[in-house]
Amino acid sequence: SMAALRERHDGLRDGIVAGRPQGVERQHALGKRTARERIDALLDEGSFIELDMYRRHQAHGLRMEENRPHTDGVVTGSGTIDGRRVFVYAQDFTIFGGSLGAAHAAKIHKVMDLAISTGSPLIGLLDSGGARIQEGVVALSGYGGIFQRSVQASGVIPQISVVLGPCAGGAAYTVALADFAFMVRDTAQMYLTGPDVVEAVSGQRISHAELGGADVHGRRSGVATFVHDDEDGCLQDVRYLISMLPGNNLEFPPRAPSCGATTDVRPRLAEIVPVEPNRPYDMRQVIAELVDDGEFLETHEDWAQNVVCVLARIDGEVVGVVGNQPMVLAGVLDVAASQKAARFVRFCDAFSIPLVTLIDVPGFLPGADQEYAGIIRHGAKLLYAYCEATVPRVHVIVRKAYGGAYIVMDSRTIGTDLSLAWPTNEVAVMGAEGAVNVIFRKELAAAGDPAALRSELVAEYAEQLMHPHYAAERGLVDDVIDPVQTRAVVAQGLAMLRNKRKPSPQRKHGNVPL
Ligand code: COA
Repeated sequence: SMAALRERHDGLRDGIVAGRPQGVERQHALGKRTARERIDALLDEGSFIELDMYRRHQAHGLRMEENRPHTDGVVTGSGTIDGRRVFVYAQDFTIFGGSLGAAHAAKIHKVMDLAISTGSPLIGLLDSGGARIQEGVVALSGYGGIFQRSVQASGVIPQISVVLGPCAGGAAYTVALADFAFMVRDTAQMYLTGPDVVEAVSGQRISHAELGGADVHGRRSGVATFVHDDEDGCLQDVRYLISMLPGNNLEFPPRAPSCGATTDVRPRLAEIVPVEPNRPYDMRQVIAELVDDGEFLETHEDWAQNVVCVLARIDGEVVGVVGNQPMVLAGVLDVAASQKAARFVRFCDAFSIPLVTLIDVPGFLPGADQEYAGIIRHGAKLLYAYCEATVPRVHVIVRKAYGGAYIVMDSRTIGTDLSLAWPTNEVAVMGAEGAVNVIFRKELAAAGDPAALRSELVAEYAEQLMHPHYAAERGLVDDVIDPVQTRAVVAQGLAMLRNKRKPSPQRKHGNVPL
């Protein structure tokens, strides 16, 4: 009868949580929620449609026949966030430690296929001991199916991985291949080989947290894009992120109503940036003045802090802002900053998010360390990412724009659409002192009063070459603007560029320097 059917269905739904009381208690004691509680916190109330609730493993041997829980340790399905469709899977640590067996993997493959075919974001909530040991290579192969789909979906639908517990071994690539990785402090850990293996191989004793905790990946490795103190804040930020992303690469990000930004004068902008070239300031303050409500979502907040990347809105339109950060390492570009900004730029480009670049860059970080680490290769990633980007691109030279770093930071000849500059005097191949020492070496050596000659030449160079008007007269800067007008002029520029289209030549794919 229908009543019996409903009873079985609802009983199963509740039973999965209630049926493993110890596991659920343990989750809660650790500050973790169950898979269904997480889904409820993530999605709009009542919107979740569960798939494959009855599914269970068909494995044999190693006493697997005796334990065949429904769901097979992962809850999958679809729901909405602010009314917009997403697909979700949430691993359930109370069943086989959330480990991935054949049925578990097949359920994930199914939601991934649906996310791709319906053009909806995919969100994975990870909490798992990895490949289910009892299912051998079949389990491992399940990961292969996830990776293959994730790569095919890359640049087609946004993919978000949220690490809410262990994420060990190959499973970590589920995170690395996603566009954004969230981690929660204390409960999330991610590594390819765990502490036991590390100790066996190298003798080094290291804790789970030291090896792969949220702060390790948020500050040192750059694997985590966002780090949170608790699951609640984390899942709320996933919702915030989704609110700024399109469902897929054929859509535009959701627009909020225009808020009069095109005429908005911001007096604070004239005060934030010091005139003295070496005085630091926080580029995030500039960003807060430029974007709607001063509100933004910063990626990699604690990693490669010498560059700032945020998603925000300007006059209701979602933009990706990339800014040098003079507060950290004087805002130079180095290996980590290049990687961070490059990946951000490529994400924005793939999902039709216009780019606003705020330039205050003294150059690349000099030194043997950087050269040995391959700064040429890594800096090339950012260069490549900008060169390739076809979304609307606007930049503002806020203070310094020197050398190769100036070219890499979305300069005119690598394809920016609109180049704006504040009336600074720091746009050149190099600073005046360095420049004069190179080009007038012989004259200075022969001079009776080298110091006097040097200061004369420095003044000449600074006056003739370093003002953005020098660049503007040559078409490399479109306008030199009053800083207080920046929000308005950028908003006007974005409106002007809204229908930009720039088809790329046919090819299999480019060969981005990796
Ligand atoms: N396959 C099958 N079962 C697994 C599993 C796996 N990969 N990982 C965990 N489990 C099971 C445990 O056997 C245990 O089952 P039980 O409740 O019936 O006793 C349950 O999940 C909880 O695991 P437990 O080890 O008690 O949890 P923990 O919080 O102390 O440790 C891990 C969590 C992930 C660190 C630990 O389980 C672990 O190291 N697992 C193996 C990780 C691994 O190497 N996976 C292969 C990677 S490709």
